[in-house]
Amino acid sequence: MSNQAESVKALIKLRETARLGGGQKRVDSQHQKGKYTARERIAMLLDGGSFEEFDMFVTHRCTNFGMQESTFLGDGVVSGYGTIDGRLVYVFAQDFTVFGGSLSESFAMKICKIMDQAMKMGAPVIGLNDSGGARIQEGVNALAGYAEIFQRNILASGVVPQISAIFGPCAGGAVYSPALTDFNVMTKGTSYMFLTGPKVVKTVTGEDVTQEELGGASVHASKSGVAHFAVDSEEEGLQLIRRLLGYLPQNNLEEAPLQPCSDPIDRLEDALNDIIPDSPNKPYDMYQVIGGIVDNGEFLEVHKDYAPNIIVGFARFNGLSVGIVANQPKILAGCLDINAARKAARFVRFCDAFNIPIVTLVDVPGFLPGTQQEYGGIILHGAKLLYAFGEATVPKVTVTLRKSYGGAYCVMSSKHLRGDINYAWPTAEIAVMGPSGAIEVLYGKETATAEDPVKFAAEKEQEYREAFANPYNAAKYGYIDDVIEPRNTRFRVIRALQQLATKKLSNPAKKHDNLPL
Ligand code: HXC
Repeated sequence: MSNQAESVKALIKLRETARLGGGQKRVDSQHQKGKYTARERIAMLLDGGSFEEFDMFVTHRCTNFGMQESTFLGDGVVSGYGTIDGRLVYVFAQDFTVFGGSLSESFAMKICKIMDQAMKMGAPVIGLNDSGGARIQEGVNALAGYAEIFQRNILASGVVPQISAIFGPCAGGAVYSPALTDFNVMTKGTSYMFLTGPKVVKTVTGEDVTQEELGGASVHASKSGVAHFAVDSEEEGLQLIRRLLGYLPQNNLEEAPLQPCSDPIDRLEDALNDIIPDSPNKPYDMYQVIGGIVDNGEFLEVHKDYAPNIIVGFARFNGLSVGIVANQPKILAGCLDINAARKAARFVRFCDAFNIPIVTLVDVPGFLPGTQQEYGGIILHGAKLLYAFGEATVPKVTVTLRKSYGGAYCVMSSKHLRGDINYAWPTAEIAVMGPSGAIEVLYGKETATAEDPVKFAAEKEQEYREAFANPYNAAKYGYIDDVIEPRNTRFRVIRALQQLATKKLSNPAKKHDNLPL
């Protein structure tokens, strides 16, 4: 065998060794936990055969605690690039079979390298997390590595989409990289995220709590909002990431890909002419409206289980990717509360950063009253949503279906926050507050002293309803561009979006804004 043939053989051997990560025993143990390895995950995520790996021969440089005796090719993270539906993406997957996927200086440099490449090329970054956190033997070098990644997450924010999946442990400061990214996917039962684990919690607060109760996927998807998606399996999570990317552009200078649309643009959805109940206090399901108007009824919901009184997610109109924001009258009557405002604000800002038009469906009786909300800072959190809609320069189409009262009217992509096209259904009620509240304020004393208080209040309410609880008062001032037939909403929204395709609008130059935090 020639020297060259020998060296090629040695290379192949080295590659085989690297691909085994921490060794067959640890790979088996990973499988026994119901988890895939880093390379298996990447293979499922990317288009077949598209993965090109970087830094397979990187090892750690630590000599503390005899670490020089223990090195693994790749050092616990698999990184590189590939394609999803033919579009370039950068990816890293932490390899739990090597030092528990813990992060060393070299490991961090590998992640930073693909993040830098992604920024130069203008392509999304996907991080698959499964790690015991900072590699303890490396001390401050591991912490420095994390901070280098955080810095890149920050600079990439709003430039390229960043998506994280949590497929195992993610604890301590390590949680902050996923937290800085745009979307977080967690697997139920096998992943958890927390700053301090159950043992520390027990010591400090005395609380007895399991990992799952403290930071499992369901907790973060429904209570904290840290996870945008909770999935049953890694396969589902990886497929979801592929689907999500289909709605997004590669970077902030591009537009999302236009898909061929088989759903007629002028499809009438007759059921919508009959969906609003006669009683203003009776709910209906906003999902029915969304499903009825978007292409083929397909909707990728984000934060499904968090603040369900507002619905956000991606859909298409005539193949164009849009972000949908909709009040859900079925939950808390569709009121805006702290969590709903935070959830929708972040979504609106994401859409605006990545040139995705926003379609807002309004049925909101106002902000949720009460000490809990006030003490929690609903004023500041509500302002976030107001701010997000107001600063957004992407095309904004708003349809008011029923209630739009008070501050919530202003907030929900109103004309005054540079809403481009504001439609209303004939059932819309746009006013400072609902009829009964208004009559109580205006005629509380008179009602109390009236001969027949019930009759008096009802008459006044009727008077108020005729004056304000309709869309025509707002339409009279041009705040509503047109009152539309509900069943024709799909067509009217598509026409509006077509008209807005060349929209150009920018905000005043500034270093950055000062969003109320
Ligand atoms: C070095 C680590 C490690 C770490 C795990 N390992 N975590 N090595 N540094 N942080 C190694 C183990 O020694 C073991 O090596 C292998 O990974 C698998 O770990 P096990 O404990 O056997 O696995 P399991 O029972 O599944 O438990 C997983 C675990 C546990 C829950 C993650 O390993 C654990 O608690 N690790 C420490 C977590 C932690 O406190 N990290 C620091 C968080 S603070 P062998 O050779 O036996 O296979 C932090 C700060 C970040 O990260 C700050 C950023 C600013």
